[in-house]
Amino acid sequence: MKKASASRANNSRTRASSIRKKLIEAAKKAQKNSYSPYSRYPVGAAVMAESGRIYSGCNIENASFGLAICAERVAIFNAVSHGEKKLRAVCVAAKSARPCGACRQVILEFALKDAEVIFVDWQPLEKKEKVTYIRAAQLLPKPFNPSEAGL
Ligand code: THU
Repeated sequence: MKKASASRANNSRTRASSIRKKLIEAAKKAQKNSYSPYSRYPVGAAVMAESGRIYSGCNIENASFGLAICAERVAIFNAVSHGEKKLRAVCVAAKSARPCGACRQVILEFALKDAEVIFVDWQPLEKKEKVTYIRAAQLLPKPFNPSEAGL
């Protein structure tokens, strides 16, 4: 590889890893605001919109249990309510962090092609964490597709 293109490739790798770090930090920070007195399962999420801005959210529960909303949807709806409808990346932080089926469908509604999804499996009081990276397209087999359904 020529020097210039090697350095360009290096720069873009550095950028990608700093974006990942920022998203992971934002998701962990949001997790601290989780309102989860019923499940005691705090979750934080953060998304990076096409603009480069980061929006975050946490899970919010209710005494009427079915009204709980997941951190991923709070973060995505936060982005959308700020006028951002295209997402470059989605990150979720929790113990065994994995988006539920409903959140997967919502992620697909707004994810750009090739958007990255980051799972940060960790617990706030523990030091170790495991980070997994996948593409949004891998989230759901045969997702509901509005254009195929004629919507
Ligand atoms: N939860 C999330 O916030 N995200 C997920 O991906 C899975 C579940 C929340 C909902 C509820 O407040 C708690 O975790 C237990 O299900």
